[in-house]
Amino acid sequence: MGKSTPAKAQWSSKWTFIFAATGAAVGLGNIWKFPYITGENGGGAFVLLYLVCVLLIGVPLLMAEILIGRQGKKNPAHTMSDLATRCKRSRAWGLVGFLGILASVFILSYYSVISGWTLDYIFQAGAGDFHMQSVQHIDSLFTALVSNPGKLIFWHTLVILLTVLVVIRGVEKGLEKAVVFMFPAMLFLMLIMLGYSMSSGAFYQGLHFLFYPNFAALSTHSALNALGHAFFTLSLATGSIMMYGAYLPKRVSVTSSAITIMIADTGIALIAGLVIFPIVFANHLEPGSGPGLIFKTLPIAFSHMPYGSFFATVFFIMLFFAAFTSAISLLEPSVSWFMETFKISRSKAVTIAGCIIWFLGLGTVFSFNIWSHIKLFGLDFFELMDYLTANFMLPIGGFGVAIFAAWRVDKAIIKTELGEKNHAVISCWRFLLRYISPLVIVILFLSFIGIIKIG
Ligand code: TRP
Repeated sequence: MGKSTPAKAQWSSKWTFIFAATGAAVGLGNIWKFPYITGENGGGAFVLLYLVCVLLIGVPLLMAEILIGRQGKKNPAHTMSDLATRCKRSRAWGLVGFLGILASVFILSYYSVISGWTLDYIFQAGAGDFHMQSVQHIDSLFTALVSNPGKLIFWHTLVILLTVLVVIRGVEKGLEKAVVFMFPAMLFLMLIMLGYSMSSGAFYQGLHFLFYPNFAALSTHSALNALGHAFFTLSLATGSIMMYGAYLPKRVSVTSSAITIMIADTGIALIAGLVIFPIVFANHLEPGSGPGLIFKTLPIAFSHMPYGSFFATVFFIMLFFAAFTSAISLLEPSVSWFMETFKISRSKAVTIAGCIIWFLGLGTVFSFNIWSHIKLFGLDFFELMDYLTANFMLPIGGFGVAIFAAWRVDKAIIKTELGEKNHAVISCWRFLLRYISPLVIVILFLSFIGIIKIG
């Protein structure tokens, strides 16, 4: 990345790609969003739907995006229209890529605000603000943060600036190092916290909540939320993965890369759930309390742990890194689109995209305080952005990529990408993307509109 002739650049090895793509996938989606939407959607049955979506739709789509990216090597919109032309299909397929670019801009606008919360929590943790504090006090720290627009704007601006700086310089080297170190450290800390939850939390109750599928707890939105989250957590349908796939050396297997990324991503999310829900139940908190969930629960665990302030500081630093590597992947599609459409330099493109995203993010900042009473369809600005992207733009984009990859791209290209001899893999991949993924997406949309009922 970071080079104006992307076709020549390549990841230095298979693992660099896997680390970079895992860095894009593992982020706030796993540790912040997964627990709180699982809480809002009643637990086990939602988790089951989410896992089914990851396996049946997420993995094949991940493979599709990697291989399309490796074929195209441009921004998502041009990559798709060029590949369509080569396969003698309509250039209008580029619109699917464009929808993804738009989604990445919308997502980054609020993602940056939430990443800002993690920065603030690094300092609170470092100052020992959680040490031996009551559940109520910890709750009030979160409320104090989100009701302060000045503070939120400060952190949001800092996150956008940092992301812009890395993307201007080109992310290849920095990203590689950050992720190689971050992922194992994150896993290690999560396991320490899992130990705490197992010994001090209501572990069994948490386990039950997370894995016992009670379909009566699902709402009409749950199935679509599960699908949207599968896309969100794997960074699908915005072209982020296409951008990374563009740099994947030819000999690296698309299938094994996709499976590795999925396992790392799902594993971290499930561990996060296992850490958080026992703490929620042990302290009689509300699982469906919304986006503040981890910020209200994890500090409780740290407040009682030996060296809690130290672990809390390290944890929020890790969480920020995880969010940051994802933010970088969210900025890349719009930047390369600006560069390639208007033939402008990388730094100009980054500046334009950064300004637009920063400005949009103000809506999310204010939705937690001065605009919290302004609602459209019963949703505030942040909820609307999240809803629009995760429940509409990503599933529609994913539907488009599935149809394009499995019905429109020449089979010869698929064969070279997935390996000539892997007949079983190719047939299975095509079957899932041709029939199962589109069907599941359509069914979940219908269930959302209320035409059919799941659960
Ligand atoms: N997957 C990341 C997370 O879970 C967020 C993210 C990065 C993303 N790139 C994306 C989400 C592209 C959707 C699309 O935190």
